[in-house]
Amino acid sequence: MSINPMTLQDRTILVTGASSGIGRETAILLSELGARVILAGRDRDRLEETRNRMQNGDHRVECFDLCQADSIPEWVKRIVSEVGPLHGLVHSAGIHRAAGIQMANTARIDAVMHSNVTTAIMLTKALRQKGCAARGGSLVLLSSVAGLAGQAGISIYSASKAALMGFVRSAALELAPEGLRVNCVAPGYVDTEMAQRFREVLTDEQYQAIQRMHPLGIGQPRDVANAIAFLLAETGRWITGSTLVLDGGYTAH
Ligand SMILES: NC(=O)c1ccc[n+]([C@@H]2O[C@H](COP(=O)([O-])OP(=O)(O)OC[C@H]3O[C@@H](n4cnc5c(N)ncnc54)[C@H](OP(=O)(O)O)[C@@H]3O)[C@@H](O)[C@H]2O)c1
Repeated sequence: MSINPMTLQDRTILVTGASSGIGRETAILLSELGARVILAGRDRDRLEETRNRMQNGDHRVECFDLCQADSIPEWVKRIVSEVGPLHGLVHSAGIHRAAGIQMANTARIDAVMHSNVTTAIMLTKALRQKGCAARGGSLVLLSSVAGLAGQAGISIYSASKAALMGFVRSAALELAPEGLRVNCVAPGYVDTEMAQRFREVLTDEQYQAIQRMHPLGIGQPRDVANAIAFLLAETGRWITGSTLVLDGGYTAH
């Protein structure tokens, strides 16, 4: 009999950003590993598209705008009342805005921080509510190498992704007595719609420079999904407060 240490059989996992890119691929992989997945995003048709690509299971689609951050705890409570305690959360919803510092204004800064940081904190708070997370639960937040290594023109996004790395360190200590783990993954450039939109504002030279910075090439969503599954499953049992870098060598320079 073969043993799969990354099995997620009988686990219920909430995946935000499941309508696109990394979140979509993660939802598909988690279903292949046996999990029941709650697919969250704003675009119902695209969430249904993800569900159609998943392994059979009692997966659910949940349309919700995470920018209504104050409503997140109540939203999670309602989901839990219908599906039972969550064994995991993958927070892949997020936005990327390329803009130089001279373009910064409070509206732009708040939009990025709210979408990328406030939502993560409120989701963590939501899972911390009594009965919402199963003991041994694992939370994985999508940070980025942009939070570790600088790149001109993306400083607000970089600040938001660095904030998540700080958040998981303290949150890990606070949640450990509850038997909950919380970690980040920090991908390099991954071929998704977000990356394609970013590609459109780059010159060919800038894009080639990014490619050269990834000695193993540009990443695929499955490269990130594999690491997320590792952190969710029993394989991640002893890992909390960490940031797992997945970047094809980008930060090795
Ligand atoms: N791609 C990369 O190169 C890369 C690298 C490092 C880190 N990351 C991070 O990885 C995560 C996923 O990126 P991706 O490339 O997969 O992006 P993507 O293809 O643009 O997908 C983003 C997802 O976020 C959801 N979303 C955005 N705002 C939302 C809101 N207010 N409420 C609910 N859902 C919302 C979108 O869903 P709806 O449109 O349905 O609402 C979509 O499913 C992001 O946090 C990103 O910063 C990406």
